[in-house]
Amino acid sequence: MGFEILLEKISKEIDGLNKEVALPKVMATLKEEVFHYDWVGIYELTADEKGLSLGPYVGKATDHTYIPVGKGVCGQVAEKNISMIVQDVSQEDNYIACSMDVQSEIVVPIKKGDRFVAQIDIDSHAYAPFTSDDQSFLEKVAALLSVYY
Ligand code: SME
Repeated sequence: MGFEILLEKISKEIDGLNKEVALPKVMATLKEEVFHYDWVGIYELTADEKGLSLGPYVGKATDHTYIPVGKGVCGQVAEKNISMIVQDVSQEDNYIACSMDVQSEIVVPIKKGDRFVAQIDIDSHAYAPFTSDDQSFLEKVAALLSVYY
């Protein structure tokens, strides 16, 4: 399924749903529909704005239910409020390993206005699978999800 059609599908499937139902649904749809998305989850900025707390996710269980802002790829995205693609995690110094199977990662901020509130984090078992199409697609998904924050 192309990203444009998938975006429409996601937009329709969350229409009228509350956050608790919508977020897990979107995580599941992303993992199911995009072959190179192996772990898909949400991290949310904590109330003290010093860390990220793991929200709904699909994929292997992770020990990293809390990540300090600035730490790892997720923490860098929280700090800079910009999307990040790491095509080869072995080359990234500021990286927190969740599973040895992961080779690449994309993280996209969810913003309320301009303010960082949460992020979509996706791990892939493929090497360098992400393109600017993934990024712009996921930024549109993030914009859809910002209504829940
Ligand atoms: N790899 C991330 C940590 C989260 S796991 O991928 C689920 C990072 O470097 O921030």
